Amino acid sequence: MTYGCAVTAKLIAEEPEFAALVAQEASVLVPEYEGKFAALQPEEGRFETGPLDALLAWAGHFRKTVRGHALVWHQDLPPWAVAAIGESPRRARGVMEAHFDRVLAHTRPRIRDWDVVNEPIANPPGSDVPEPAGNTTDLRDTPWLRALGPDYIAIALRAARDRDPLLRITLNDYGVEDDTPSSEEKRQRLLRLLRGLRARNVPIDAVGIQAHLQLRNPFRPDQFRDFVRQIRALDLQVLITELDVRELRPPVGDFPARDFAVAQRVHAFASAAFEGGARTLLTWGISDRWSWLHREQAVALAAGDVHRGLPYDWELNRKQMWR
Ligand code: XIL
Repeated sequence: MTYGCAVTAKLIAEEPEFAALVAQEASVLVPEYEGKFAALQPEEGRFETGPLDALLAWAGHFRKTVRGHALVWHQDLPPWAVAAIGESPRRARGVMEAHFDRVLAHTRPRIRDWDVVNEPIANPPGSDVPEPAGNTTDLRDTPWLRALGPDYIAIALRAARDRDPLLRITLNDYGVEDDTPSSEEKRQRLLRLLRGLRARNVPIDAVGIQAHLQLRNPFRPDQFRDFVRQIRALDLQVLITELDVRELRPPVGDFPARDFAVAQRVHAFASAAFEGGARTLLTWGISDRWSWLHREQAVALAAGDVHRGLPYDWELNRKQMWR
């Protein structure tokens, strides 16, 4: 299997311990911010590739592969883009095409795999962050969907293929891992989308499963393995793209028990993914110290505590999850 993780150009430049860990452990890197729309085109027509280029240069020095993330997403659209996309379908297409033109031409020599569409599936009822009532379709309500209709996905995937015929085109999403009714519904929604794309011959090579796991949700390895197989049966590759684990009201201080629970879940999850046919696994960060989990997803934690959901802890010791 191939292991990789999300990094930022800033951490690589400013935290030598982070850079050393990544250099040692990861063979694939993905930028946590630097490939997002607002990072790359903060104002219309002004492209900012400095941070992404810095990351690519560092990766090149250490002979690491870099994946791209993410061309079309509902988050991290700068205000100008939200407004422009909302003007008319024609304008929305123009915004998408201009972004793809510049970004893919720039990264083509170095990035051979992009999350072209990120998080397109609507969260079913019962999810942590359900879609607003009223959206009963499979697709998330986004500026792109409102402007271009459900076809925005095919439009984006084709636009990527047109600009880079050998790019591995990946569609990435989350919330499809658990043994819960909403996760099951999201799996079915994703499979319907993928089958529809296949039936229409829309270019797509891989599915990214983010895997921001939550210990409070039940997990059934055979169920998840079969889901991965169903994607593979459509002749699509499967990557685990953003693995980490949120804990359930962790007992304060009891690190061994917590780390065991996290490692157990990751072992069950990763084994099922590999049995199903996934070959690549990336974690979203590498150490709890710099994880988005405590910056943004700290629910259920005591003040001052952090989720222990990555292979290395705050002190940069390997945890059981690493094994
Ligand atoms: C997250 C970053 O980690 C955060 O720091 C940022 O504020 C928001 O985005 N799914 C994705 C990633 O596809 O891009 C998200 O990354 C995490 C969830």
